[in-house]
Amino acid sequence: MNNYQIDIELCNNRKEKPSFSNLQFGKTYTDHMFVMDYTQGQGWHHPRIIPYQPVTLDPAATIFHYGQTVFEGLKAYLSENEEVFLFRPEENIKRLNRSCERLCIPPVDEEIALEALKKLVAIDRDWIPNVEGMALYIRPFIISTEPNLDVSPSKSYKFMIILSPVGAFYKEGMNPVKIAVEQEYVRAVRGGTGNAKTAGNYAGAMLAQEKSGKSGYSQVLWLDGKENKYIEEVGSMNVFFKVNGEVITPALSGSILEGITRKSVIELLKHWNVPVSERKISIDEIYDAHQNGQLEEAFGTGTAAVISPIGELLWRNEKLVINNGKTGPLAQKIYDALTGIQTGKMEDPFGWRVTVE
Ligand code: COI
Repeated sequence: MNNYQIDIELCNNRKEKPSFSNLQFGKTYTDHMFVMDYTQGQGWHHPRIIPYQPVTLDPAATIFHYGQTVFEGLKAYLSENEEVFLFRPEENIKRLNRSCERLCIPPVDEEIALEALKKLVAIDRDWIPNVEGMALYIRPFIISTEPNLDVSPSKSYKFMIILSPVGAFYKEGMNPVKIAVEQEYVRAVRGGTGNAKTAGNYAGAMLAQEKSGKSGYSQVLWLDGKENKYIEEVGSMNVFFKVNGEVITPALSGSILEGITRKSVIELLKHWNVPVSERKISIDEIYDAHQNGQLEEAFGTGTAAVISPIGELLWRNEKLVINNGKTGPLAQKIYDALTGIQTGKMEDPFGWRVTVE
C-alpha cells in the first residue's frame, strides 16, 4: 500500500491515568487505538487512529473458532530529556509478517505499520510512565473477522494496535524468578507454530503454567516436544545460561520464538567479547553443570520480561538454586545496558533506538 494516509479521530474525554509508580502488567489501556481493515480484493485499507473502544464482530468470525490471529509486543520509553524511543520496531514488524505467513494472514505493509506505531505512540505519549523500570507496552495484533466455519483462511481481517502503561511483568520485578521444568506437557513441535506469535501457543501453555503457579513457580521451562530432553524457552521469554564462563541459549529450532531481546542480548555479548553460543542444550547438561558448580547464572529475555534472572529451577522434584537465588552480575550488566540503550541513558552503538517525533 503506497500513499497511505492515517485518518485520526481524537477522543473528547481523556481517561484518568493510573499511578505510574504502581503499575501491573497489561491492566490499563490508553485513550486511542490504531485500526486497519483487510478485505479480499481490496487488500489492507482505511488505516485510522480512533478513540479506544470495543470491537464488534460476528459470532461466526474465524478468530473465535479457529484462532487465526497473530500478535507482537514492543515498548515505548521516555528518556530523561522527554524524548520518546521505540526499540527495534522494524524487527517486530518483520516478525509479525513471518507469523502472518505461518497463519495464512496477508502481510501488512512494513512502512505503514511503523508509521502507525509512531503516530499512535505520539498521540498517547503522555501515557508513557516517567518512572524507572516502567514503559508503554505496545500490542499490535491481527484477527480474522470473516464469519465462516469451514476451516479456511478468512477473507477479512483487522490489524489493531493498543497501548498499555506497564510495570514489571513478574511480581518479583528484577528479582530472580523460580521456574519449573515442565515434564508432562509440551509447548510446540518442529513443523508446528512454535516460532509464530499466535494465540494458540499461549492458550495451550496455560494449564502447565497454572499448575506450576500453584506450587510457587512463576512459569515453566519447556522441553522439546519430541524427546522431552532439550530446553526450548520459558512461556513468555527466551532463556540463557552461563556455564563455566560461556553463555549458551537454545538455537532457533523452528519451535522457539525468535525473540528480539534474545537477538539483542546475543549481539551485546558478542560486542563485549563474552563467549556466547546458540545450540541444543539438554536439561541433563544444565543439571550436571549445576551439580558440578559450573552453572553460574540463568536468565530469561523478552520484551515484557526484559531480563529476568532465574534463581531456581525445579527439575524432577529437585530444587536447583542458581547463584544463591540472587541476580547474577552478567544478568545485571545486560539489564543495565539494554534498558540504558532503550531509555536513552546510554549510547546506542547499534542504532536500535527509533525516535518518535
Ligand atoms: C512480550 O514479551 O511482548 C510477549 O509477547 C510476552 C507476552 C505474552 C506477555
